[in-house]
Amino acid sequence: MSGVLLTDRYLTAMTEADLDEVAAVEKLAYEFPWSRGNFQDSLRNGYYGVCLRHVTGTLVGYCVLMPVVDEMHLLNLCVAPAAQRAGAGLALLREAVRITRAEKLDGMLLEVRPSNPRAIQLYERFGFTAIGRRKNYYPARHRAREDAIVMRLSFKESAHGAR
Ligand SMILES: CC(C)(COP(=O)(O)OP(=O)(O)OC[C@H]1O[C@@H](n2cnc3c(N)ncnc32)[C@H](O)[C@@H]1OP(=O)(O)O)[C@@H](O)C(=O)NCCC(=O)NCCS
Repeated sequence: MSGVLLTDRYLTAMTEADLDEVAAVEKLAYEFPWSRGNFQDSLRNGYYGVCLRHVTGTLVGYCVLMPVVDEMHLLNLCVAPAAQRAGAGLALLREAVRITRAEKLDGMLLEVRPSNPRAIQLYERFGFTAIGRRKNYYPARHRAREDAIVMRLSFKESAHGAR
């Protein structure tokens, strides 16, 4: 995977050397960000991390994937606010699907906030469909909680994952 060229951007496997930048982008992009330690634990547990960088070296975005039995769980997908709406999310999702297929898993699973239409639109465009809801899954403002929509992309039932 390392060095896959996307015109002016390239993908690499996330390593601990990326984590200061990853955690900085995470703080800019999310109201309830993962800590640096969350990313470190993910890498140490053997999960897949992917970074997307601009040729100048700037970190554009990243994703973290956890294999669970026969499915890949997309734990985090994030694009730096200044780089959003330019295809980076799509490029990372494509790479996540490529890795999942290469690992011969049957599909992908993710959770997303109902209040995040950008992400939902991206996943739907890619062929993910909502399969359920997890009550009070996410922290929200004023100590409230927000449900998660669970979305799934099955490689067995459709050809969408090939995009
Ligand atoms: C969700 C996120 C990853 C999308 O990344 P991105 O690089 O902006 O997405 P892309 O440019 O690849 O967009 C692909 C498609 O997503 C949808 N999309 C992206 N941004 C959108 C926006 N502002 N409004 C509506 N749809 C949007 C569109 O379908 C878009 O295709 P289009 O630009 O041809 O219309 C990015 O907004 C992000 O990191 N948000 C903060 C973190 C987050 O919420 N992550 C998801 C957690 S589940």
